Order: sequence, then C-alpha cells, then structure tokens
Amino acid sequence: MAGLSLKSVKKRFGETEVIRGVDLDVSDGEFVVFVGPSGCGKSTLLRMIAGLESTSEGRIGIGGRDVTGEDPSKRGIAMVFQSYALYPHMTVAANMGFPLEMAKRPKDEIGRKVAEAAKILHLEPYLKRKPRELSGGQRQRVAIGRAIVRQPGVFLFDEPLSNLDAELRVQMRIEIARLHQQLGTTMIYVTHDQVEAMTLASRIVVLRAGRIEQVGAPLDLYENPDNSFVAGFIGSPRMNFIPATVDAVEDGKAVVSAPQAGLSGLAVAARGELPKPGAKVSLGIRPEHFVPAEGAAAALTGRVTLMERLGGVSYAHAQLGNGESVTVESRDARSFAAGEEARFGIDPARAFLFDEDGRRL
Ligand SMILES: Nc1ncnc2c1ncn2[C@@H]1O[C@H](COP(=O)(O)OP(=O)(O)OP(=O)(O)O)[C@@H](O)[C@H]1O
Ligand SMILES: [Mg+2]
Repeated sequence: MAGLSLKSVKKRFGETEVIRGVDLDVSDGEFVVFVGPSGCGKSTLLRMIAGLESTSEGRIGIGGRDVTGEDPSKRGIAMVFQSYALYPHMTVAANMGFPLEMAKRPKDEIGRKVAEAAKILHLEPYLKRKPRELSGGQRQRVAIGRAIVRQPGVFLFDEPLSNLDAELRVQMRIEIARLHQQLGTTMIYVTHDQVEAMTLASRIVVLRAGRIEQVGAPLDLYENPDNSFVAGFIGSPRMNFIPATVDAVEDGKAVVSAPQAGLSGLAVAARGELPKPGAKVSLGIRPEHFVPAEGAAAALTGRVTLMERLGGVSYAHAQLGNGESVTVESRDARSFAAGEEARFGIDPARAFLFDEDGRRL
C-alpha cells in the first residue's frame, strides 16, 4: 500500500497548459475522488499519476518514492478504465491473470491470485467464460480483478462505472466501497456522478480548468464550499444563485435584498470578510433547504413553471420576478402547482453569500 504526493504538477500539450500547478497529498489507504467539468483535466492528472502521460513540471511521489520519470510498470499502480479493454478470445481467468503472465510469474502463483480476486469479486462461477458471455457489470468486475491480482499500492479508476445502466452502477458502487474496505488500498477515482463522489470518497478534489478549487470530506464541501463554483458543483440538483444587494451590515451579518424576486431583510452571517453596504452579492440556497414561507425569516416570490413529482420528493421550478429560475424541493407532492404564484421561505442559517468573483463571504 502507498500514499501519493503531487507537488506543483503541470502538464502542457504543446502550447496549452492543461494541468496548471496541482499540489495534493493523499495518505495511505485514502479514497480520493476527482470531480470537475468535462475537460478540466481529471483523466490527464490520473494518467500522469499512472505514468501514461509525462509530467511537464513538478514531482509525483508514490509510497514516499519519486516516480516522476518512471515507467508505468514500475510505479506499483493499477488502472481501471471506463472501457473494460478485455481480451475477447481469452477466458475470464486468463484475462485476470494476464498482467502476472506478462510479468512471468509462476503458474501456481497466478492461479492462486486469480482465485483470490475471483472470490473477492464474486466471479468464481464465470472463470471459464469469455467476456462476450458476461454482462457489463461482470466485465467491469473482471477489469477490476485484473487490477487486483497485481496487488498495487494505488488503484486508479477513470469513470469505471459510466458504461453501466443505473441499477448496475448502484450495485458496482457498493462493491467498490466494499473492495476498498476489504483491501484498504489507496484509491484515486474519477467520476461525473455526484452520488459516487459523495458516497465513496474520504476526500473529494474539485478541479476546474487544471487547478484544484477545493479539497475536503464530502460533507465539508457540501456544507462549507469556499466559492460558488464548488457550491454549484457539489449537490444535486444544483444550488440556486440569486443576485442580491447588501442593504446593511450588522452584528457580523449582511442584510440582503432582491426586490424583484420579492426578497427583503434577509440577515445572513458571513463566514469571513463582511461585504460593504451596497455590494452586489450572489445568494446561494440549495433546493432542499427552502422552508415553508409562513413564519420564515424571508422568502422569494416566483411563478411555478413546472412541477416534477418523483414520488418521495418533488421539485418546483419557478421563475422569479428578476428573470432567474430556482428549483425548490418539497417532500409534499401537493405543495405547489404549475402556474401558481408562490412564496419560498429561506432559512438564513442555510443561506450562502458569494461576492462578485464567486468567493464565499
Ligand atoms: N493528447 C492530448 N493532446 C492535446 N490536448 C489534450 C490531450 N489529451 C487531453 N487534452 C486536453 O486536455 C484537457 C483535459 O482533458 P481530460 O481528458 O483530462 O479532461 P477530463 O477532465 O478527463 O474530461 P472528461 O470529464 O470529459 O473525461 C482537454 O481540454 C483536452 O482537450
Ligand atoms: Mg476524462
């Protein structure tokens, strides 16, 4: 097993800098998830850790050893991709044993390690089958098995579940969590899936345009985002952002209003620096944090344009007087109706303020 350290890591493809100075320390046994918009550099960074891409600047350490210029096969890592890349003409057992075969390990050792991996992944009944005789989830388990037999110090996963249907994804997500518990090996995992990131990660790394925006435990990022980018990225459906103005500052709180959206006198505690009266801010409220308008400290007014009723939870999509749209979650399917003018209560303790540059206030 091994930890990982990235020091001022950069990657250029020709003139374009794609990874623009990343510093990160991962402890041995951690489960770290990379998230961020498409093209932000998640796969590139993972491939640099694996040694499949060279590093333009900075150092990469694995297990306390500098591996920056080292060959992928020497780094003690194993990578699992979105496409399973199994050999179609080989059996499951042969596919899983292939890396050891290549390393010229003795037959009995290969047999033993494949058997162990098959047991962990519940693949024992399928060892003699060919990949085409397996479901997508089973194929991905074989690809993971091929990584396990190498007993790597670090597992690297690049969106391993995105080819699977929704139900299989849930099942495989639980299997990967179990695998991490069982093996205790460091895992770095790239995903687009909010739920995967929130449930699997010990820490989430939010990337944007080749830089780290914030690193933290999933709930820390959800409850304490440093900026509007992270606030908007973590949480689903995403946080609502409403342009507002600071009317006054008192007792460490900013009193904000958004007259066209029917909002006034909302006093929000600032976490750091207080804004100046008159400042333009962005008020952030998650769909799940609205409260009934009666008795609320403040409320937004808008016209409900669409209701999504999912059974346990409903989402009201509303248009505010300032033209902004908001999404409001409710647990009562009958709470709002499309077409009606409604008020959405705000709990100041659940409201966030961001300055014009998106920094959390
Ligand atoms: N070999 C390459 N040559 C030039 N540019 C590249 C190369 N590989 C990737 N890029 C660029 O680097 C950027 C980051 O790509 P990367 O594949 O790391 O993104 P990603 O975060 O994994 O995105 P996605 O979520 O879509 O998989 C993109 O703008 C991409 O076009
Ligand atoms: Mg990618």
